[in-house]
Amino acid sequence: MSASVISIANSKGGVGKTTTCVSLAEAFAAEGRRTLVLDLDTQANASLLVFGHEGDEHLFQAINDYATISDWLLENFEAGEQRRLEEFVVTDASDVTAGGKPLPLDLIPSSPRLRKTERELIYHLTDQGYSMEALQNQVGRRLRDDFNLLKAKYDIILCDCPPGISVMTESVLAASHLIIVPTIPDFMSTLGLDLFTGDVMHSLRERDVKTLPMVLATRYDGSPHQQVILNAMREAAAADEAEFSMFKTVIPMKPGFATNPIALGPDPTIEAKWPGDTLATIRELLAEVKAALP
Ligand SMILES: Nc1ncnc2c1ncn2[C@@H]1O[C@H](COP(=O)(O)OP(=O)(O)OP(=O)(O)O)[C@@H](O)[C@H]1O
Ligand SMILES: [Mg+2]
Repeated sequence: MSASVISIANSKGGVGKTTTCVSLAEAFAAEGRRTLVLDLDTQANASLLVFGHEGDEHLFQAINDYATISDWLLENFEAGEQRRLEEFVVTDASDVTAGGKPLPLDLIPSSPRLRKTERELIYHLTDQGYSMEALQNQVGRRLRDDFNLLKAKYDIILCDCPPGISVMTESVLAASHLIIVPTIPDFMSTLGLDLFTGDVMHSLRERDVKTLPMVLATRYDGSPHQQVILNAMREAAAADEAEFSMFKTVIPMKPGFATNPIALGPDPTIEAKWPGDTLATIRELLAEVKAALP
């Protein structure tokens, strides 16, 4: 068994990365696939969304126990200890049920400390004469090794990337089989898309990473402006030497996608968490994601 690694990334903020990551993770897990979410964002939104009703308490616990992705970075690269990613996994982290059974969904939580940790690490290693590139390579190598151990335990690993770009993001993207780029089809977001497919993917290609990102149109409101931009994005994806491909599924702007675990109460069903036809849309996307995986 070797897990497929999927990253959800876009330098632009608020485009639906976390919503896409957690809804896909739950849909995969609902099919009985052993699924892991790796939260790389200092906002820890994916952690809270996976934990669900008592998310605050679970996250507080993980932070207190030094059991977040931030601690993995600190211990390996500053304290010089060998701690594998798998030691940071919270098993059965989700409170959602499907078909009467809990989801087989695990989580490596993030922490608000991650931002400070990444900065400290850059100072610490540059002090020792390491270049930014050397740091990137070191983290990248370690992530790849740790991913290889994790891959043996899971069917699917989904990584929720932060907006902007971080030391961890590029390393995770380089280790991914599929990169999903949620994008709102509007003027501002397509500027962000150019930045991502141009800048970020270019630097990955320089490191010999061949993965072509797949754009997912999100928060689509059907306005004439968004229709025009969505069509333009589809044309760009169909062009020769396109820098990205596109999912046919479009995620509409709907309250059902803006899930609130606190209001849902404990142990919701997956149908309650993604109400109405929201779940059907997520399953449509799931089918396309599965088809896109190598
Ligand atoms: N399809 C949708 N319809 C309505 N609301 C949505 C939809 N998708 C996401 N939202 C809401 O929009 C906000 C941003 O979504 P989300 O957190 O998934 O984006 P993000 O790209 O992860 O943001 P960030 O860059 O801050 O990490 C959230 O409040 C979320 O609940
Ligand atoms: Mg997010």
